[in-house]
This record gives sequence, structure tokens and C-alpha cells, in this order.
Amino acid sequence: MSLNNKALAMALSLGRLMLAVHALAAEDVALKNVAAPEGCMKSFLNITQKVNDMKYPHGTKEYSVSITNQCLTGCKVGNVHLSCNPKIFEIKPIDADKLKHVNGTLDDCIFSSGRPIQYGAVLSFDYAYKSKLKLEVSSLICLP
Ligand SMILES: *[C@@H]1O[C@H](CO)[C@@H](O)[C@H](O)[C@H]1NC(C)=O
Ligand SMILES: *[C@@H]1O[C@H](CO)[C@@H](O)[C@H](O)[C@H]1NC(C)=O
Repeated sequence: MSLNNKALAMALSLGRLMLAVHALAAEDVALKNVAAPEGCMKSFLNITQKVNDMKYPHGTKEYSVSITNQCLTGCKVGNVHLSCNPKIFEIKPIDADKLKHVNGTLDDCIFSSGRPIQYGAVLSFDYAYKSKLKLEVSSLICLP
């Protein structure tokens, strides 16, 4: 093989490698909905809230929300949407990567950018509001 042919062969196999990597990434993004035997349940996420010590005017309080993946079969969960009040973003900004209000909806928020959440993982965010919100999972999918 000449030097040029060798370079061409290397370029070709690198190209194939890149294609394979792309195919894998596409599969990740598709987020197949693999339900646990008894179904994929909203109760797999345990949402707890506690009041922080932070002082705000006008009776506003700061709350810490922790969300734990307690999937019964040890699954991951993804595409998690929470019911939320858009007003909780007004006093103290919330990192959009943690909780993002879906534009044009009344109370739909995407949690953790919809990313898969490992079994046992605890994810948190804070919000400031005049009262404790009733945060509920409105939808999720279960992943292997
Ligand atoms: C949710 O988590 C809290 C705090 O760890 C715990 O006290 C509670 O029992 C959990 N709830 C469920 C349904 O597992
Ligand atoms: C939000 O929705 C409104 C109305 O549908 C649209 O005009 C606006 O550009 C959207 N904003 C973002 C950030 O997508």
C-alpha cells in the first residue's frame, strides 16, 4: 500500500467509526419507553420540599425541592414533566437546566431538561414563593 492509500484507508475507517458513534447517539436521544413490569409510575419519583432559612420580603419563603428516583425495578426515568406555577420563576431565577417552564403553557415544566435520571439519584432546585407549591409529576417515561 502506498502512503496515500494508507491515509485513505485510515480516513475511511475513521468515517465508519464516526457513523457508528452517531448511530449510538441517535439511539440515546430516542429514549425508548421501557416500562417496568407493573408500569411506569409517577410515584417512582419522591418529591420532598423543605423551607430554607433565607429571608425575603412580603412573606415570601424559599423552598428546597429534592426529587429522588425510587423506581421499583431500579430503572432510570426521563422526560419528566412537573406541574408548576410559572410565578415561581419571578422572584428568584431557577436554572433552566433544572426546571424550565414550557413556553405557552399554564403549568407545565420540564425537569432536569428531560434527561434520564439514574435510579437513586437525588436532584434538587430551590424556588422562592409566598407559599409551598403542590409540585406533582405530570408525566415521565421509564428507561432501562
Ligand atoms: C420520600 O423521601 C422522604 C425523605 O427521604 C422519606 O421520608 C419518605 O418516606 C419518602 N417517601 C416515599 C413514598 O418513599
Ligand atoms: C413563547 O411563545 C410565544 C407565543 O407562542 C412566542 O411568541 C415566543 O417567541 C416564545 N418564546 C420562546 C422563548 O420560545
